Amino acid sequence: MQDQPQLGDTPPEVFRQQLHQLADWIADFREGLGKLRVAPNHQPGAIRAALPAQPPEEGEAFEKILEDIDRLIVPGMVHWSHPMFLGYFGWPQTGPGILGEIATAPLNVNAMTWRTSPAATELETLVVDWVRQWIGLPEEFGGVVYDTASVGIMHALAVAREEAAPSTRKLGLTGRDLPRFRVYTSDQAHSSVEKAAIALGLGEENVQRVPTDAEFRMDVAALRVTIERDLAEKYKPLAAVATVGTTSTASVDPIPEIAKICLEHKMWLHVDGAYGGGFAILPEYRWITKSWSEADSVVINPHKTLFVPLDFSILYVSNLERLRRVFALVPEYLRGDTIEAEKNYMDYGIQLGRRFRALKAWVIWRSLGRAGMADRLRDQMRLTNLLVDWIKADKRFELAAPVVMPVVCFRLVTGDESSRRSGAKADVSTVDKLNGEIVERINASGRAYLTQTKLRGRTVMRIGFGNVLTTEDHVRAAWELIQETAGSGD
Ligand SMILES: Cc1ncc(COP(=O)(O)O)c(C=O)c1O
Repeated sequence: MQDQPQLGDTPPEVFRQQLHQLADWIADFREGLGKLRVAPNHQPGAIRAALPAQPPEEGEAFEKILEDIDRLIVPGMVHWSHPMFLGYFGWPQTGPGILGEIATAPLNVNAMTWRTSPAATELETLVVDWVRQWIGLPEEFGGVVYDTASVGIMHALAVAREEAAPSTRKLGLTGRDLPRFRVYTSDQAHSSVEKAAIALGLGEENVQRVPTDAEFRMDVAALRVTIERDLAEKYKPLAAVATVGTTSTASVDPIPEIAKICLEHKMWLHVDGAYGGGFAILPEYRWITKSWSEADSVVINPHKTLFVPLDFSILYVSNLERLRRVFALVPEYLRGDTIEAEKNYMDYGIQLGRRFRALKAWVIWRSLGRAGMADRLRDQMRLTNLLVDWIKADKRFELAAPVVMPVVCFRLVTGDESSRRSGAKADVSTVDKLNGEIVERINASGRAYLTQTKLRGRTVMRIGFGNVLTTEDHVRAAWELIQETAGSGD
């Protein structure tokens, strides 16, 4: 500590040494990750209780801080990058992804305008266009990088709102003779649709959830009926949100039919490909992109399926100028910085200050190439199919939804028959409880991590693949753990 200056930064030689120390720490962490518990068994509040509540008055040595990360933070984490983490959609952490994040840190720029960050701006435009080419979107689609798909859909629906109710940007929604707008999405769609409606003053209740068919895809006939009913009641259909890769089962809505309805009613079509959109880089998944060209906006989360570390989400809009028209607003102090610009990304959303997210994407995509990502996605499908075969071979279990992407919903059905005799209600709750308990017990064991969800009101277990460290051995171990836990719960 005495060697450190009072002001300014860490001396270069000390910083170099700390970086080496951190490099070793990262490499050791990555190498030893598989041996850690996947999830902690702490009581809520335990981690905070182990840390001093008082803010530090004097600076501390980096070694001491790193030691505490090891001692207190790492054991308190759910390790999303652990090979036995099979929750949500899996998690695509990779070496190049980590390198990309590290390389971004010292630059620490603000990518708000071209002038303030020419390379960050131009690289963003470049990588956004790489993904556009990979997923086969037409050239008229321009994109912008946000943190998440939730923020993406909010911006998309803001444009839809402005186009349906011109001057809303200027005048707001109240005190004007405007109809009540409706947004349609399936009963399997993500809650970010309601969040956007809340934020935009459209109202949560004006998001109409349309039923799905037996394969959890939006029922287009039901969509028509809902729209007709709304029209009769003087609502104004504003937008439809079709999902490619729904959150529970990764089902894909029938976009061509939904696009046709949007055209008929002059509605905005938003394609939520937050999870599933990335699979469009595979020729065998090209079918999912049918009619995306007719959409007004498409969101895709490369941090879910295209190996970019969180956070990195792209919103594409057919003619990005439509988005700029709603959000461009140049404060006086930035006027000088916004001239001579190729593009000022602050004009395409709420955020002014923006991270340089494109660099990590550029690093990972150059490191893996499309082919490297495709191989890894295909391997996820191979593991998925293995698991599906094992589930089908064990009579105590059944698949709870068709498998479209590397997401498997399944449930234990043992006990259904015996409890059915004692009344349908008891049967459902007993078996549902059992399925939920298996997930809870496995997660509490620290040996694997799964999620549970509800499908048609029934509790099911759910496994999502996405981690490059997950191998066949891990999947087999997870399946044996599920079988064992189900057995001991009988
Ligand atoms: C289909 C779908 N859309 C949107 C989202 C929201 O994504 P984000 O966390 O990027 O806001 C999710 C999250 O899992 C999702 O599954």
